[in-house]
Amino acid sequence: MSREVPAAPRTAAVVPAAGRGVRLGPGAPKALRTLSGTPMLVHAVRAMARSRAVSVVVVVAPPDGAADVRRLLDGHALPGTTEILVVPGGETRQESVRLGLAALPADVDVVLVHDAARPLVPVETVDAVAAAVRAGAPAVVPALPLADTVKQVEPRAAGEPEPVVGTPERARLRAVQTPQGFDRAVLDKAHATVVLGGEGATDDAGMVERLGVEVVVVPGHEEAFKVTRPLDLVLAEAVLARRRTTDGY
Ligand code: CTP
Ligand code: MG
Repeated sequence: MSREVPAAPRTAAVVPAAGRGVRLGPGAPKALRTLSGTPMLVHAVRAMARSRAVSVVVVVAPPDGAADVRRLLDGHALPGTTEILVVPGGETRQESVRLGLAALPADVDVVLVHDAARPLVPVETVDAVAAAVRAGAPAVVPALPLADTVKQVEPRAAGEPEPVVGTPERARLRAVQTPQGFDRAVLDKAHATVVLGGEGATDDAGMVERLGVEVVVVPGHEEAFKVTRPLDLVLAEAVLARRRTTDGY
């Protein structure tokens, strides 16, 4: 009888990069804007490829920009031997992630989903999320405590004062980041079954929660912040400048 040796789990990263970046203001799609001369998407893909756990990265490009993104990635050095696939994205982040998942090789069993808009996530955070999933957690999110107190309001038309309806206890709140890590079958099921209206899910873990599957948090990192508004570009450039002076990065 032959001895069955279980194959090592193969980990992939799906990088949604199909958004326009409306809140950043007019210009190229957000993921293609540069930080220190290098497109944000290239920083984000490098951050994934730097993790030894990650053997394949699926980049989800703007719907009409997959060929351009392919050329862009071919023109930039990436660490290691990571395989890079590029697919066109959709109208919402949820749709883009679903299209990325559909392109994963069959033998992948752990998936990280990482926003291209978080270009500076340290490899330690990527490794910690991947390790927690490989150790058996079906869903893992990196998270940080909040600095601001959060109010729940009754939304009103722009300009009208919004009444406060509640103040959740800050100590019990966390701001979640990416990469979020999942057992592949769990994430596939969430994307196949969870239907959300409007802009869809902004967070994959939220979809998995709706399946009744436990999601756990691991420590996030300040440098994994999302580039959303113009001031975030200033912060990202400053982080890169600090890295250059401290470790010649
Ligand atoms: N994203 C995507 N497909 C979409 C919308 C968003 O792949 N249809 C990706 C973005 O490229 C980004 C991530 O999801 O990497 C997080 O979204 P967000 O920060 O909201 O980026 P944008 O949607 O591009 O920005 P905005 O909402 O300001 O337009
Ligand atoms: Mg968006």
